Amino acid sequence: MSIEIPAGLTELLQSFTVEVLRKQPEDLLEFALQYFTQLKESQSRGATLSHGTDLPFRHSKGVNFAEEPMQTDSENGEEDDDEEFIAPVINRFSRRASVCAESYNPDEEDDDTETRVIHPKTDDQRNRLQEACKDILLFKNVDQEQMSQVLDAMFEKLVKCGEHLIDQGDDGDNFYVIDRGTYDICVKSDGVGRCVGAYDNHGSFGELALMYNTPRAATIIATSVGAIWGLDRATFRRIIVRNNARKRRMYENFIESLPFLKSLEFSERLKVVDVIGTKIYGDGEQIIAQGDGAESFFIVESGEVRITMKRKQSKSDAEVKEAVEIARYSRGQYFGELALVTNKPRAASAYAVGNVKCLAMDVQAFERLLGPCMEIMKRNIANYEEQLVALFGTNMDITDPSA
Ligand code: CMP
Ligand code: CMP
Repeated sequence: MSIEIPAGLTELLQSFTVEVLRKQPEDLLEFALQYFTQLKESQSRGATLSHGTDLPFRHSKGVNFAEEPMQTDSENGEEDDDEEFIAPVINRFSRRASVCAESYNPDEEDDDTETRVIHPKTDDQRNRLQEACKDILLFKNVDQEQMSQVLDAMFEKLVKCGEHLIDQGDDGDNFYVIDRGTYDICVKSDGVGRCVGAYDNHGSFGELALMYNTPRAATIIATSVGAIWGLDRATFRRIIVRNNARKRRMYENFIESLPFLKSLEFSERLKVVDVIGTKIYGDGEQIIAQGDGAESFFIVESGEVRITMKRKQSKSDAEVKEAVEIARYSRGQYFGELALVTNKPRAASAYAVGNVKCLAMDVQAFERLLGPCMEIMKRNIANYEEQLVALFGTNMDITDPSA
């Protein structure tokens, strides 16, 4: 008796097998679920099928689940090498439930034209804008020419106390950078709204809906008068989203290799890559200052970072001792999590030893994305106590930088 093999079965299984071998997923079942869900979605969207396999998958470097080429940069005539960008679905209410990847499908209105948006600014506005954008991680990997397009396109919006700048569930129109003012972040889940964080005169918000084509994931309410800088959706997608595709290619493997992120699902690790920004430090430069407020979490990409701590011998001792080196971190290790976890000032200082490259993540992204890694981090934090007792000889509160 002969059994007929359905047309396409061999190619389907071959392509899946190649993806599995290429990605080496830990959870094969989850990976299969993602793969076939994505495949089905692409087919129902009538996606262009590739390399004769009738499958929207291919085997190139980076995170490539769907064949959704990005458009060519028609303005400068460059061939855009960001063939595709796959955006993981943001599940607003249940972070752990999201496994699917949503393909980046440049909207016609976003990318077909490369119309440059220019909002004229006074010198004072330009200076304030530059200052506000200096530490925005999403801008860190953007080149100079693109950054000047971003700055040209941004517009100032004055904010009243109590104003809703973003409402959860709305479509995304702009990305915002804070010039001044304080803002609450509120998330409604199962009908219950709660404040999950706040911005205090720094930072940015509104990137998620624009990156992933999802409804707004939170409501942002001004708790003082203030001012913010808006960047329109089309410019954001043309420059920042395209840049993220490049970033994924650069960092996907590195992020995949980090043991402390292993508790994240694959799609969650992709989101980590999307929000990190590269920061570069010269020899001896201070990365973190003991006692300062904390805004970022760091992963060492290259070079070495020295952690030092100044301690008084006892609480009653007025004299603060010399800084003592307590740790060194190199590629793949992280630091700066303690103050974010405990909501206290920095417990120690960090300095570059030689040239150092770090990947930084802001506190909002840290809280939103790294919850599943907390167990591992907390175990390490427990070791800090022992390390300090061994170094300083007394049992002290590691979260109290003035102790
Ligand atoms: P977006 O979904 O476009 O609009 C609301 C913004 O709130 C979101 O992008 C993020 O920039 C920001 N935000 C900060 N913290 C959170 C959080 N915990 N969950 C969702 N959004 C958050
Ligand atoms: P944070 O307090 O945010 O900033 C300083 C960082 O130094 C801290 O987070 C830890 O990541 C790191 N560190 C390393 N060893 C210690 C230690 N023994 N005690 C406190 N922080 C430490």
